[in-house]
Amino acid sequence: MSAVTRRIKLISAVCVVLAALSQHALRADDAAGSAAHGAQLVSTCSGCHGQHGEGLSASGFPRLAGQAAPYLAKQLRDYAGGTRENAVMASFAKALSAQDIADLAAYYSTLSAPQAKPAREDARATTGGRMLANLGDARAGVQGCGNCHGPGGRGEAPLLPYLAGQHAGYLAAQLGAWQQGTRHNDSGEQMAALAKKLSAADIAAVSAYYAMQTPPTPQP
Ligand code: HEC
Ligand code: HEC
Repeated sequence: MSAVTRRIKLISAVCVVLAALSQHALRADDAAGSAAHGAQLVSTCSGCHGQHGEGLSASGFPRLAGQAAPYLAKQLRDYAGGTRENAVMASFAKALSAQDIADLAAYYSTLSAPQAKPAREDARATTGGRMLANLGDARAGVQGCGNCHGPGGRGEAPLLPYLAGQHAGYLAAQLGAWQQGTRHNDSGEQMAALAKKLSAADIAAVSAYYAMQTPPTPQP
């Protein structure tokens, strides 16, 4: 083998290794979720969750816009696995591959949707809700929601969802689901323990309060 042939062989071997490495890098990006591919899958979801991920208050369809991707992906896995019980979402989630879940979660995390206008009567319920959200209720042994959900309920990525601007009916339904044990996907059981200490009036007030707060906009 001439020196030239050896050099050509060496160069082509290096090229093969570099190509394999860049393939690997692409796959790693994909696993993190491709919002562009998520956008192609979303037509199944937007009938309920809205064109901009704004949800639909009256039907109990949550806002997804700007929610952190790891939180959204976890919920889809939890519906598929049954630790979060909901027949409709379970059937959609079970039909998605792990990659589809990552892509849809990435897509919704980039969206920014206008806030639904809260009903006027909500304003009266929210004084108690504001106290509970920001200070908790020492007598009931409930810490302020903001300790975990961030100041103003704006969420703490990756796994603590924003509550600000989420629909009141949906928030109340989730607190009820934790009380009844149909949502048991929070590994530390923190939400289940906390929800069981809340009265129906507490749930209505804190849900109304958060629904009126401004939701976060996605970080670029
Ligand atoms: C027929 C209406 C409907 C369709 C279509 C639908 N969803 Fe949902 N989705 C819901 C409802 C209702 C809930 C709340 C269920 C519950 O109480 O847990 C929900 C909840 C969710 C949640 C949890 C949100 C949170 O804040 O925890 C995610 C994530 C989600 N859906 C993603 C999707 C994706 C992605 C698709 C498309 C593949 C989709 N949904 C299609 C009705 C729908
Ligand atoms: C000790 C931390 C902690 C505190 C305090 C806390 N939460 Fe949570 N909350 C969580 C975690 C963790 C999750 C996400 C669980 C999961 O993975 O689904 C969550 C999720 C939620 C959700 C579901 C949101 C969605 O999009 O489905 C609601 C509603 C909620 N919390 C309300 C409250 C309220 C109201 C309070 C105060 C009364 C509160 N939380 C206090 C940890 C906390």
